[in-house]
Amino acid sequence: MISDRDHDPRDAHDRGVRRRDDGPFAHWLDSDPHVARLLDAEMDRESSTLQLIASENFTSRAVLAATGSILTNKYAEGYPGRRYYGGNEIVDEVEELARQRAVALFGADHANVQPHAGANANLAAYQALLEPGDTVLAMRLDHGGHLTHGSPASITSKIWRFVAYGVTPARDTGGDGSGHGHESVGGHESVGGHESVGEVIDFDQVADLANSERPKLIVAGSTAYARQIDPQPFREIADSVGALFMFDAAHPAGLIAGGAHPNPARLADVMTFTTHKTLRGPRGGAILCRSDLAKKIDSAVFPGLQGGPLEHVIAAKAVAFAEAATPDFAAYAHQVVDNARKLATALANEGFRLVSGGTDNHMVLVDLRTFDADLTGKEAQEVLDQAGITCNRNTIPDDPRSPFVTSGLRLGTAAETTAGMGPDEMVLIATLIGRTLRNRADDGVVSTTRKEVAELCRSFPPYPPAASGVSGSSGVSGSSGSSGSSGSSGSSGSSGSSRS
Ligand SMILES: Cc1ncc(COP(=O)(O)O)c(C=O)c1O
Repeated sequence: MISDRDHDPRDAHDRGVRRRDDGPFAHWLDSDPHVARLLDAEMDRESSTLQLIASENFTSRAVLAATGSILTNKYAEGYPGRRYYGGNEIVDEVEELARQRAVALFGADHANVQPHAGANANLAAYQALLEPGDTVLAMRLDHGGHLTHGSPASITSKIWRFVAYGVTPARDTGGDGSGHGHESVGGHESVGGHESVGEVIDFDQVADLANSERPKLIVAGSTAYARQIDPQPFREIADSVGALFMFDAAHPAGLIAGGAHPNPARLADVMTFTTHKTLRGPRGGAILCRSDLAKKIDSAVFPGLQGGPLEHVIAAKAVAFAEAATPDFAAYAHQVVDNARKLATALANEGFRLVSGGTDNHMVLVDLRTFDADLTGKEAQEVLDQAGITCNRNTIPDDPRSPFVTSGLRLGTAAETTAGMGPDEMVLIATLIGRTLRNRADDGVVSTTRKEVAELCRSFPPYPPAASGVSGSSGVSGSSGSSGSSGSSGSSGSSGSSRS
């Protein structure tokens, strides 16, 4: 066991980590300076480098406060009014509040807010809707689907039989990120009718596979697909073969809540989502469904899959659902998409090919090969990390390289839009990415970029000092606002960000 004494404080210095005795964690965690130091270091990292991982965001202080609350102490197996332990009168109210807010936010019949994560939400939904061995039609992993959509590495593929649909072949559309030329996937004509842009969901294939494979469930949703996913054609195809339809909204949940994407909650039989990506809540999952499926879904979550719910996280989900219902959040969701389009256009100008011809959501998927045939996603991610630009390598459709190496990069705008960045900053970020990758062998360019990134981030702190002047420059302890008041901290003020 490593005690604190065993820990050499110079370790932190070796990694460029400063111990901040005035930071909030030094106070809260005075009994554990080792952990305090690591939390301060992460605060520094998040504040001084660009967070462009599409599945991340900066929560409000209110969400942090609820996540760090005493509700972590309470065991509450079961559901409000039907618990297996005593003393649950308060957490019953908390969970009921979260449930009602989720139902209101998405206009659903029923919500289960207990899934610990998006993967758990999907597993529970499958368990509620399927028998072992049943066939599920979901998106190919190498075309953007998620591990829980039937990866050989996931338990999902061991219990159920997954068949995969993909995207249409790439076309040279000269995509500019605007989405122009991309026929909306809405309406019936979209079932096979959006050929003008390549690398979009192939609804002909979805329909053909549905006919030949007769799945019990069709899953929409992805982890690396830059276009809007319209639930309507999926519903129609599911109905045509008598299948159930599940929409995995892990990524776009916040865009849906903010009105920037169509809402699948009433079209799908079940909608699963994560609360920590574009929705900007705590790390967790949730499930919405029709009322006739409510009992099955609830039983599948508990006792089917999980034990005691994380009521502190459920309280934070309640906070996030309330925040996501505000006009500020709607402005934020639209700004996230505008920023992604701007970033995509600027990256195309740098010579990167945009997978799917552009973006309709919070993410941009680029093919690095047009920029430099020798550059892999792995190398690009690593060099950009050194330059303070955090993103992830990603396979692109029909990627000739392995998933560990890849030919693509995935970038997201949800977090830095929260911090207040707008279109001007997106153009600057694309320029920094292009310059860094073009000069990746030149340490001087990489370290210059890192300084410029730090300078940019200084103008957009994710947790600016609280107005009340509470000590701690990272300020997570000092919020008086409970839901993230409006007004970005940054210079452009153009984001509609709802952070205080
Ligand atoms: C489409 C999709 N579904 C499910 C998940 C799983 O979410 P979690 O990481 O919270 O388990 C993700 C996460 O990236 C996702 O992108």
